[in-house]
Amino acid sequence: MVTETISTMEKTEVPHVLFFPFPAQGHIKPFLSLAELLSHAGFQATFINTEHNHHRLLHNNDIHNRFPKFQFKSIPDGLPPDHPRSGPLYIRDLFRSSRVSFRPALRELLTSLKEEKGPCQLPKCIIADGIMSFSIDVAEEFEIPTIFFRTYSAHCLWIYFHFSQLIEEGEVPFQDENLDQPISCIPGLENVLRRRDLPRIRRFENADDPMLQFFIRETSVLTRATGLILNTVNEIEGPMITRLGSFFKKVYAIGPLHALKSRINENSSSSSTSSDGILWKEDKKCLKWLDSKPSRSVLYVSFGSLINLSGEQILELLHGLANSEKSFLWVIRPDLIVGDATIGDILKEQETGRMERGLIVSWAPQEEVLSHPAIGGFLTHSGWNSTLESIVAGVPMICWPQISDQQVNSRCVSDIWKVGFDMKDTCDRSIVEKLVRELMDNNREEMMESANKLAMLARDSIKEDGSSCINLEKLIQDIKSMSS
Ligand code: UDX
Repeated sequence: MVTETISTMEKTEVPHVLFFPFPAQGHIKPFLSLAELLSHAGFQATFINTEHNHHRLLHNNDIHNRFPKFQFKSIPDGLPPDHPRSGPLYIRDLFRSSRVSFRPALRELLTSLKEEKGPCQLPKCIIADGIMSFSIDVAEEFEIPTIFFRTYSAHCLWIYFHFSQLIEEGEVPFQDENLDQPISCIPGLENVLRRRDLPRIRRFENADDPMLQFFIRETSVLTRATGLILNTVNEIEGPMITRLGSFFKKVYAIGPLHALKSRINENSSSSSTSSDGILWKEDKKCLKWLDSKPSRSVLYVSFGSLINLSGEQILELLHGLANSEKSFLWVIRPDLIVGDATIGDILKEQETGRMERGLIVSWAPQEEVLSHPAIGGFLTHSGWNSTLESIVAGVPMICWPQISDQQVNSRCVSDIWKVGFDMKDTCDRSIVEKLVRELMDNNREEMMESANKLAMLARDSIKEDGSSCINLEKLIQDIKSMSS
């Protein structure tokens, strides 16, 4: 279907789309997949990164060679030059600086495109990150339609739309400390959510909390867009996607984008790599290590690109993993641990033998790892990309969510899709050991069966007649019709 579009479009005008992701790993990667899919369909793509991330992408992936047809534009991240650009405060600072400096940067970029090439060369559509709603104000100044791409799950976004209602109904701020109290005022999730499963912006101590109020405003602005793109699957999150449809003119569920991109690249025999859009240098030696392990025997452990853990938490995880007597491959980013201690320091203090079944790397080729036959489970922070990648690979999960949408994703994994356990709010070596054994031994058959069923739904959706592929085609047609 997409190939058909390419040939028809070659004869007509080439629409120009501008992609504007929030400058963090979990946003850049799905945005780049989307840009690649639209570029395959014949669109001209301009992709905005911060200068800092642009250099990291150049260094790790040589993006200019990988995407020769893309126009990459960089803007300053607004942080002082001596900011470490890693560590526990990085994302908070980036988030704040983006609110101040990105709006004028986008305006300047569009002005320069207009001056350079004339009004006809302005993008016909801006696909902007759903946590940068100011983009629509700037786009409107230039009379360019905006489609928001929200990189969270549909379940999570649906909850964001109910923050005001949670306050009005007195469900937040919490009246007591009982985090297991059910949340009853969000339609469709009455029997699913507890207080502890709400997105972790704060613990909702205060209804006037500026972050909470910010997200209420930010989410309502999304509905001004021409459409909403979600990296999800109709057959997996259908009821929530339908509900979100009441707020938007169009909702395009086109996930899992990483898998759709690989499938379309395979068909068009273009080179595809799962490293596209990755900001860290991947350590591929772990794949060889996995080759030496029996089928489904290794637990993969990774907590994504943003969160930070204390030395104590690392120790509890380490002992839990070692006591489970399973092999494990653990990603410990250089900036994962808060404070000065490195993983080397922490390991040195432990009795010898704690790591004999484990391998630590600083960044793994995650998609390849998850699809390796030796992997039997994933201990994850439940970032939405990691969750989707695990679903596609049919790998059951132990979820240990920390921030924002991760609390919701882990609840869906354990209670709706039943492809894992939710370890939320505990970090204790005995619980880690117990859940690893449950996942890899005791409940293995049952978990594998549900994981395989869910994987089939995700994989079917990206086939040529699958829902995500059809929705992508609708998105392509809709953008084309904007441009004409
Ligand atoms: C966070 C959120 O929790 C996520 O839901 C949101 O949409 C973006 O911000 P992050 O911590 O980056 O994201 O996690 P995740 O969404 O899972 O994305 C991490 C990405 O990095 C995944 O695509 C994963 O494959 C990749 N990764 C991670 C690697 O390639 N190698 C690694 O070693 C670790």
